[in-house]
Amino acid sequence: MGILVARTRQELRAMIGSLKSTLEDAGLRSSVGFVPTMGALHEGHATLIKKSSKENSITVVSVFVNPKQFAAHEDLDKYPRTFEADCELCLKAGAQIVFAPTPEAMYPDDFKTKISVDEMSQVMCGAHRPDHFTGVCTVVLLLLNFVAADRAYFGLKDYQQFAIISRMTQDIVHPTRIIGVTTVREEDGLALSSRNRYMDATARAAAACIPKSLRAAAEVFLSGETNAPAVLLAAREVLNSVSEFELQYCELRNAKNLTEVEARITHESVLAVAGFVQNADGVKTRLIDNVILTHDPDRLESLLDFVRLGTAVK
Ligand code: PAF
Repeated sequence: MGILVARTRQELRAMIGSLKSTLEDAGLRSSVGFVPTMGALHEGHATLIKKSSKENSITVVSVFVNPKQFAAHEDLDKYPRTFEADCELCLKAGAQIVFAPTPEAMYPDDFKTKISVDEMSQVMCGAHRPDHFTGVCTVVLLLLNFVAADRAYFGLKDYQQFAIISRMTQDIVHPTRIIGVTTVREEDGLALSSRNRYMDATARAAAACIPKSLRAAAEVFLSGETNAPAVLLAAREVLNSVSEFELQYCELRNAKNLTEVEARITHESVLAVAGFVQNADGVKTRLIDNVILTHDPDRLESLLDFVRLGTAVK
C-alpha cells in the first residue's frame, strides 16, 4: 500500500478510524504514533518514524510549515519544501499516513487562541525568537488533538521544544505521551537538520565547532567536574576559537525546567548552543544543538556514544 495523504482533519480522522477498524476486525490491538514535522525530512526524521512504527501499529507524520512559529524576518518563504521526497521517506520508514494541511485548514479566519508555556519559552532560543514557542505550542496542541495519538515523538536536537511540549502536555493532562529521541548526527558529530542544506562548504566547516564544543564539555563533565562554569568554559573555548562561528548563546540549564545552572551541576542538565555560520555569499544559517549531561543509566549510553563519535574523528 502507498502512503495515505490527508489534507483536512476530517480526512485524517477517517483514515485513522479505518486503519484502526481493519486492525481491530483482525483481532489486533491498535495504537497510534505521531511524528510532527515541517517537512524537508532527513535521516533524523526517519529515525523518529521508525521508532514510532516499531512501537505502534499506525504511524502518522504531519508535514506542515507552521507560519505561527516564524517571525517576519525569518525563513518561512524559503524554508525547504520537498513534499514528494518526504512522502517516500515516510513510507520507507514505516508510516501509513501523512497529514499535510493548508494553513487555512489549520487556522480558520476566526482562529484566536495562543498556547504558551511561561518562563521556559522566554529563555535560550525564546530570548532571541520571542513568539516562536507560542507558535510551536499552538500548532503542536492542535496536531496532538487531531491525531489523538498514544505517543508522539520529538527529536532531542530541539531540546527546548521537547522540554516545553512535555511541560505543556503534563500541565493540561494531555493523554498523548511525549517521547524524546536521541539526535542523529553526521560523522563529525553535526546534528542533522533541515536547515543544514542551506550551508556551503565554508559554513559547513565552521559548523563542526558546535558538536566539538559539546563534546569538550561532556568530557569535562564525565571526568567528574560538577562546577557549571568549568563545564561551560570547555565548550566556550572551542566555540570562541572559530572566528567564522557567531555565537548566540551557550548555556547550561536544568533539563526539566530549563532554569540556569550557575554553580554546581546537581541534576540532569542540558548544555545548549545556538549560533550562526555564514556562506561565502554572506547567507547565514542559524544552528542549534545540545548535549544532555547525565549520570542516569537510561541516558548515559547516548552521552557516551556522542563522546565516542568524537574520538573516532579527532
Ligand atoms: O520541530 C519541528 O519541526 C516543529 O517545530 C514542529 C514540532 C513540527 C511544530 O511545527
